[in-house]
Amino acid sequence: MAVIADHCPEIQVTVVDLNEQRIAAWNDADLSRLPVYEPGLDAVVGRARGRNLHFSTEVDAAIAAADMVFLAVNTPTKTRGLGAGQASDLRWIEASARQVATAARGHTIVVEKSTLPVRTAETVTAILGAAQADGQGKTFSVLSNPEFLAEGTAIADLESPDRVLIGGEDAGAIEALAGVYGQWVPDERILRTNVWSSELSKLTANAFLAQRISSINAIAALCEATGAAVREVARAIGTDSRIGPKFLQAGPGFGGSCFQKDILNLVYLCRHYGLEEPAAYWEQVVMLNSWQQQRIARLVVRNLFGTVTGKRLAVLGFAFKADTNDTREAPAIRICRDLIEEGATLAIVDPKVEPEQIARDLGCSPGGGAASLSGEGGWVPAASPEEAARGADAVLILTEWGAYRQLDWVAIAAVMRHPAWLFDARAVADAAAARAAGLNVWRVGEG
Ligand code: UDX
Repeated sequence: MAVIADHCPEIQVTVVDLNEQRIAAWNDADLSRLPVYEPGLDAVVGRARGRNLHFSTEVDAAIAAADMVFLAVNTPTKTRGLGAGQASDLRWIEASARQVATAARGHTIVVEKSTLPVRTAETVTAILGAAQADGQGKTFSVLSNPEFLAEGTAIADLESPDRVLIGGEDAGAIEALAGVYGQWVPDERILRTNVWSSELSKLTANAFLAQRISSINAIAALCEATGAAVREVARAIGTDSRIGPKFLQAGPGFGGSCFQKDILNLVYLCRHYGLEEPAAYWEQVVMLNSWQQQRIARLVVRNLFGTVTGKRLAVLGFAFKADTNDTREAPAIRICRDLIEEGATLAIVDPKVEPEQIARDLGCSPGGGAASLSGEGGWVPAASPEEAARGADAVLILTEWGAYRQLDWVAIAAVMRHPAWLFDARAVADAAAARAAGLNVWRVGEG
């Protein structure tokens, strides 16, 4: 919405949320304190806020005044009831649709921005249709407009998207939304489809991207076993123009708010339509991802003489990828939990993730600072990689932050307990320098 406001000064954009604290944070005069860390976002908000970008908790008033309403609420995986563990929880979409139905005036175009299971537009249309029928002169058009931005590069992705997808039946509404994007996106990149194609395309794009990561991680394990090097294999296959070079980076498994959720959703949909083989096929992408995370925790333990109980391990990076403070489904969560369960004390550092967030994700507050042989694992926050490494038997790199490419391995090795290890699950560190400093080095995908 900030980017839309930035490019379309004649459109008034009001972002509303029920959460007062969140809205207050978006209105914070200090742009470094916005609730989402995303490179370049502060500048965009700084330019547009107060001019034609507003943040407010006056939800009904904003809906009543709007020609177009974007539904951008979250759709997490259901944790209970029918479809638990796979289907999307649509309670917030439904609640928002009901609120729009009540508060809207005149004609309103409702745009689904949240990632939704196919045919959700039907639910939204049914709720809005009931309001349309009650004789107050309200009318609605529903569009699907999934978002393909990736975190960490969100502003660049929005500034020059590969494509913008608009699904709908009402040609006038489609062109109204295309006109908004058309302010800065060339028309040939604005794809018009039917609603179901649009909804399914988002799930499919994420499933294909995640599948590439599971594929390369599966090959990484085979490389480690055979002496091949996964980065050489990735380069060799990536130069085939049919395969392409992107999304072939082996790592600790994919995280983030989308991939796992969207694939599980796809699996649920396939099963719903009686398509067992396609369901099992996509499910395997998620299973391979969990396996990769467990595999890394296990090989750390194995290399540290079969036990990490009472040992201190430095964990560098907790975010699910670099350049974000987002930890949703971060591979670090699973790997850290497994190591704590094994009795290790982890010293965790991340340039952008707050210790409070780490505590929430791990389900335990910091403690157990002094590594003990009692068997109780735990974790402590560290301010820098060097501090985390002090007294540690191993350093684990779990997020590919740029700073981890230039670590001073001599200084780090000097404060560790030897024999000491570097486990580089992102293959970003200078492995030769770490080896020269006296560390044993494991890199993902290398024999
Ligand atoms: C993803 C999609 O890319 C985006 O189009 C969609 O709108 C939302 O989901 P995001 O989750 O923000 O975006 O980040 P992405 O860059 O796709 O990375 C997802 C995960 O895959 C991260 O944990 C990342 O580290 C991992 N990854 C990515 C790899 O392990 N290897 C790769 O080669 C690429």
